[in-house]
Amino acid sequence: MLEATLEDLQARALERIRGARSMEELEAARVEALGRKGALGHISKELGKLPPEERARVGRLLNAVKQCLEESFEARRKEFEEEALRRRLEAEWLDLTLPAPEPKRGHFHPVTQVQAEIEDLFTSLGFTVLDGPEVETEYHNFDALNIPPDHPARDVQDTFWLTDGNLLRTHTSPVQIRGMERFKPPLRMIAPGRVFRNEEVDASHEHTFYQVEGMMVDREVSVAHLIYFMKLMVNAIFRREVAVRLRPGYFPFVEPGFELDMQCLLCEGAGCPACKHSGWVEMIGCGLVHPNVLRMSGIDPEEWMGFAFGLGLTRLVMMRFGIDDIRYLQSGDLRFLHQF
Ligand code: DAH
Repeated sequence: MLEATLEDLQARALERIRGARSMEELEAARVEALGRKGALGHISKELGKLPPEERARVGRLLNAVKQCLEESFEARRKEFEEEALRRRLEAEWLDLTLPAPEPKRGHFHPVTQVQAEIEDLFTSLGFTVLDGPEVETEYHNFDALNIPPDHPARDVQDTFWLTDGNLLRTHTSPVQIRGMERFKPPLRMIAPGRVFRNEEVDASHEHTFYQVEGMMVDREVSVAHLIYFMKLMVNAIFRREVAVRLRPGYFPFVEPGFELDMQCLLCEGAGCPACKHSGWVEMIGCGLVHPNVLRMSGIDPEEWMGFAFGLGLTRLVMMRFGIDDIRYLQSGDLRFLHQF
């Protein structure tokens, strides 16, 4: 009787092992058959009631069934484990030979790049790079530069005046004055920096832009020196021979004063919107330092003379990279900046 029950139990348990679809189902089947309160345990309790030789026979069968089931459970459990591992390996597969994604690196703004090139060039020629304040006094921005009180450049439409009487510098020329106040001649300096004008913003005008001021004061300085340094600078920036021309120009702080134009690189002088169809682009104001300017900064114009220039750095950058709208430069738009 018990033997039949045992065989039946074994058959059913094996069936459930084969049919288990998960580790949980398998475990439930195992507990039911082999657990402390399981079917086999129940039968082994019945063993004691049997006569001795029958008990021995059924006992052996019970042990055999138990061993068979334990082995089957164990084998099925291993199958589940292997299957789980195989799935994981497939899902978490990594190709360690793939190159890592390139990290996004920052880089210098195009204005900063060209500024650094100009600084390198002029320091190699014995010039010092000076910095000046963006909030300036009226004296440094205008008076000391021989700009008379009624000069249109002082007009409230151009200058951002502050309530304390100071202003946002409208050009980098005040750094000339600070340079002369601080250093005795002979003196060679450049001063790159940000300047501000109360302008209507459009494709070629910004309220904030960049200039580089330059000055050389020595005993014998002529227009020939000025032209030499200007050509050197323009050719270095564009890495080729660029045609330039000098026109008379009026700036209160130089005499004689000039406007240095360079041939438009976008149209090679043929005329295009960027050069207002003239073939030339105004790039640098320059001249020989006015004696009044030297005198006001405590330098004797009988003994010393100098040249000065103011370069439109922002415009130069636009020419160099072929940028047709000044507003891109301060837009902070990475799609624009990534191109340089
Ligand atoms: N400061 C002038 C401007 O912003 C540029 C300039 C012209 C600077 C002539 C100079 C110079 O040093 O000599 O338009």
